[in-house]
Amino acid sequence: MAMELDLDRALALAQEWAKEAGEIHLSYFRGNRLDIQTKSSVYDVVTRADKESEACLVARIGENYPEHAILGEETGEHAGESAYRWVVDPLDGTNNFSQGLPIFTVSIGLQYEGKTVLGVVYAPYFGEMFTAIRGRGAYLGDRRLHVSAKRDLAHSVMGTGFPYDKGTNPDNNIPNLAAILPFLRGIRRMGTAAYDLCCTAAGWLDGYWELDLKLWDMCAGALMVEEAGGVVVSLRENRGVSIVAGNAVLVGKIREKVR
Ligand code: IPD
Ligand code: CA
Ligand code: CA
Repeated sequence: MAMELDLDRALALAQEWAKEAGEIHLSYFRGNRLDIQTKSSVYDVVTRADKESEACLVARIGENYPEHAILGEETGEHAGESAYRWVVDPLDGTNNFSQGLPIFTVSIGLQYEGKTVLGVVYAPYFGEMFTAIRGRGAYLGDRRLHVSAKRDLAHSVMGTGFPYDKGTNPDNNIPNLAAILPFLRGIRRMGTAAYDLCCTAAGWLDGYWELDLKLWDMCAGALMVEEAGGVVVSLRENRGVSIVAGNAVLVGKIREKVR
């Protein structure tokens, strides 16, 4: 069944959709028409760009693959007849975006029976298009990506993030940060999980962990890491999607410090 879908065509289309969504982002970026509203907490914001970007992606998927299901951050589940499901984060990094910080992305994953087979992450401000098809490598444009080859924490720069309930839930990654930071060369909080994972795939970050993500944050980016020769493992099952990503050696060393 999986092979019946032309994945090269799907990848080309997903890149077109991501560029179109990215144009929507840029049309609002650093402007005064953002219409910023809060969601799960005062720290969790949504803008007009998130909503228009998702509407665009849902429309394009529906036009091209009317039988496929969709899971979108802003509109939830759209049921479909097929075992294919598109998992989209229409704007990952909304806090950055709403502040005028340029690190934000569109993330589009395609799953077959729950397994990710294709991913696109596009960072419109930088014009960076990351792509992967399962079994065929991860790319930034034409350049094949490879995870970092480092083997120790002391030479490593890692990415992480903090959950939106950090103000009320002590299981907020601050204990992890305190445990691992002294052993690292550096730490970065990019503000978009999809981009953290692409940076890990490219070796720009040596590794990444985060608690309480949603599937749309990491679906496409996790495939990038795996197709760049890395691993993505679950940190634990009781805190949303909590993952560690990087080369297998560093993932093991991160897991010794964070939980
Ligand atoms: C968020 C970003 C952020 C991560 C949060 C996500 P959003 O997504 O990926 O880096 O720390 O957990 O929710 O809300 O900007 O789409
Ligand atoms: Ca997100
Ligand atoms: Ca989002």
